[in-house]
Amino acid sequence: MDQNNQAPFILDGEPTTFTPGETVYEIATRLGKFVPTLCYDPRLQPFGACRLCVVEQKGSKNPVASCTTKAAPGMEITTSSERVEKFRKTLLEMVASENPIIDVVKRCWKWWLRKTRSSMSARCAAIRRKS
Ligand code: FES
Repeated sequence: MDQNNQAPFILDGEPTTFTPGETVYEIATRLGKFVPTLCYDPRLQPFGACRLCVVEQKGSKNPVASCTTKAAPGMEITTSSERVEKFRKTLLEMVASENPIIDVVKRCWKWWLRKTRSSMSARCAAIRRKS
């Protein structure tokens, strides 16, 4: 509990502060955490389309989009886990398979190659060769 008798916001096991209205993504990036995005643009209202920025929220059955989730006292967030990475990878495969030549795919590849170079699926390797 903090001085206002509220449970702290926890990010990757560490209690942290936030300002009202701040999103989980904004907090994570402010603290230097890597959370991949495709549709997020700080100049626009977040709309949660790509779901690449998903994170684990304790008590939530499914990962949540960090760019649209507002922080709240007592919330516990994990920015990287095996489950989240698998979810992100599947999303990237879907985007890449439907959009092999647009710029967004190049952004995907940069992130994906950095994160999981050794585990690229045959499907995505084929898309990469085409682009
Ligand atoms: S960055 Fe696309 S849903 Fe969050």
